[in-house]
Amino acid sequence: MASTNTPDPERRHFLPAAGHAWLLPFYDPMHRLLGGAAALEALAEQAALAPGQRALDIGCGTGTLAIRVSALEPDLDVVGLDPDPQALARARAKAQRAGVRVNWQEGYADALPFPDASFDRAFSSFMFHHLDADVKRGMLREVARVLRPGGSLHLLDFGGSGDHSHGLIGRLFHRSEHLRDNLEGRIPILMQEAGLQDAQQLDQRRTVFGAIAWHRGTRTS
Ligand SMILES: C[S@@+](CC[C@H](N)C(=O)[O-])C[C@H]1O[C@@H](n2cnc3c(N)ncnc32)[C@H](O)[C@@H]1O
Repeated sequence: MASTNTPDPERRHFLPAAGHAWLLPFYDPMHRLLGGAAALEALAEQAALAPGQRALDIGCGTGTLAIRVSALEPDLDVVGLDPDPQALARARAKAQRAGVRVNWQEGYADALPFPDASFDRAFSSFMFHHLDADVKRGMLREVARVLRPGGSLHLLDFGGSGDHSHGLIGRLFHRSEHLRDNLEGRIPILMQEAGLQDAQQLDQRRTVFGAIAWHRGTRTS
């Protein structure tokens, strides 16, 4: 998988949604085909959103989750953050078509451009495996910083607890440094180390691409 590389000195390397910038138009159809909408719906439900809250979708890509969250609870201030301006342009157009308001912002998970204690909910869907190990840890520390006491992170990605050593995807999990951190219950440990409490895997399902797992971590104080 390749990272984008642009001449903009402010822009760092990142792995785009479909692995390559030119594949971005195929991301949403592929996501739909693989049942991504139901997985995101479950993630949004786990967050138990309430009116007046502020929610952040980190690595929002083409915006499907942020748009759904905004539609579910209209009295919510939703921010979608991603380093990819092309994905954000798609997200903006989709939100306009859906008639929902989301604040789209360019940025990186491990350098969140927000003050301390400014969100009630943070989401991360299918993006954690796009990050290098140090960026993953940086992201979780940043999430713990920007969440208000009582706020929670809801993270969905490939992997989870259990044995992933079999089959093609299992072999890929073990070969890929990006995916290895997602395995064997490591995500809750990383969450705890970053300062989130009561970190746990809430659910896990098999898909044609391998297991996916839902996690939650809370900032209690
Ligand atoms: C597979 S897409 C997931 C998009 C969306 N969350 C979803 O569920 O459809 C992964 C996203 O992570 C973003 N990403 C990659 N590196 C990132 C970073 N360092 N900080 C924030 N987002 C990043 C990519 O640009 C991409 O949009």
